[in-house]
Amino acid sequence: MTAELLTGIAELTTQAAEFSHDDDRLRDAALVIENGRIAWIGPAAEAPAADSVVDVHGRAVLPGWVDTHSHLVFAGDRAAEFEARMAGQRYTAGGIVSTMMATRAASEAHLIANARRLRRDAEAQGTTFLETKTGYGLDLASELRSAKAAAEVADVVSFLGAHVVPPGIDRRDYLDLVTGPMLTAVTPHVDFIDAFCETGAFDVEECREVLLAGRAAGLGLRLHGNQLGSSGGVRLAVELGCASVDHCNHLDDADIDALAGSNTVATLLPACDLSTREPFPPARRLLDAGAHIALASNCNPGTSYTTSMPFCVATAVLQMGLTVREAVWAATRGAARAVGREHGPDAVGSLRIGGRADLQVLDAPSVAHLAYRPGMQLCVATWTEGVRARP
Ligand code: NIG
Repeated sequence: MTAELLTGIAELTTQAAEFSHDDDRLRDAALVIENGRIAWIGPAAEAPAADSVVDVHGRAVLPGWVDTHSHLVFAGDRAAEFEARMAGQRYTAGGIVSTMMATRAASEAHLIANARRLRRDAEAQGTTFLETKTGYGLDLASELRSAKAAAEVADVVSFLGAHVVPPGIDRRDYLDLVTGPMLTAVTPHVDFIDAFCETGAFDVEECREVLLAGRAAGLGLRLHGNQLGSSGGVRLAVELGCASVDHCNHLDDADIDALAGSNTVATLLPACDLSTREPFPPARRLLDAGAHIALASNCNPGTSYTTSMPFCVATAVLQMGLTVREAVWAATRGAARAVGREHGPDAVGSLRIGGRADLQVLDAPSVAHLAYRPGMQLCVATWTEGVRARP
């Protein structure tokens, strides 16, 4: 068992209360990684001896990003649909079927290689923990293949058979398939069940049926809600105690109150909002009301073809009214809550003694630079469970 000392840290963001002083950052800090875990955190001047030393020379260190919403198992792209949107067409869920056809036609090896490529891109930007979903297979064999591919590349997998009803099958028959044989087949490979609660996808009662079937199978619950209108998804997610409801662009006061009075995290997807030209979610109002929020990339070929969490953090600060600290929290510890990993031995999104050594180094003295210098490649190194990688 060897100990690695990181020292010369100008600003260490731990997201752990035990290290908070006037704010959540320690200055002139150091930490020790041992056996994939954080063994020590404190002032650099008091750092213990270690087997190896990495001097980060006045840079900022923070937890790796926790990206809790992505759809990495797909083939093809939808650049033409994107261009049409930028020329004025509104996003509808219609394009999902074209990705479904490309995904069904692709080999398993291609799907895994494409998802791995995207995960590598994410890691180069500081992501150390990632959720991804099925949802572009939409028949039993293709969803099962997608679930297995997702489990190869992601830390957490969600089953999104209820993305849209594919062509050629009756709606009721498809719901019976999703809540029956398809669910049974994918359950060993997934952690959560998800559904798309939206006009053009599934209504509240259909989503309730899907989520309750997933719960009966032992899965955690999450939901896409209120992306294109007031779908009722947010209220359903709160009622069922979903870990997260994602998108949340169209919220009324009662939705915000419901979220604020619940443990359901509102996961906001700023890159998707830019690409679909939907209004940004009322992030400031959510936080001021006391709701939990997270930020995620929503990487997918239709509405958000990016894995860049720094881009999401910068957008949340520059366009959605969050402070830098709030946005960084939402992309780390807030996000961990959205996948049930905020506490316990497998917690992610924070740096604490005995916890996972998932962290990143920025080529900057402070996390403020994430929004102050948007679009720059600031991540220069990551450690995932104590193993170092460089972009
Ligand atoms: O989260 N909104 C539903 N699903 C994806 C987009 C799917 C697509 O258009 O391919 C999302 O944005």
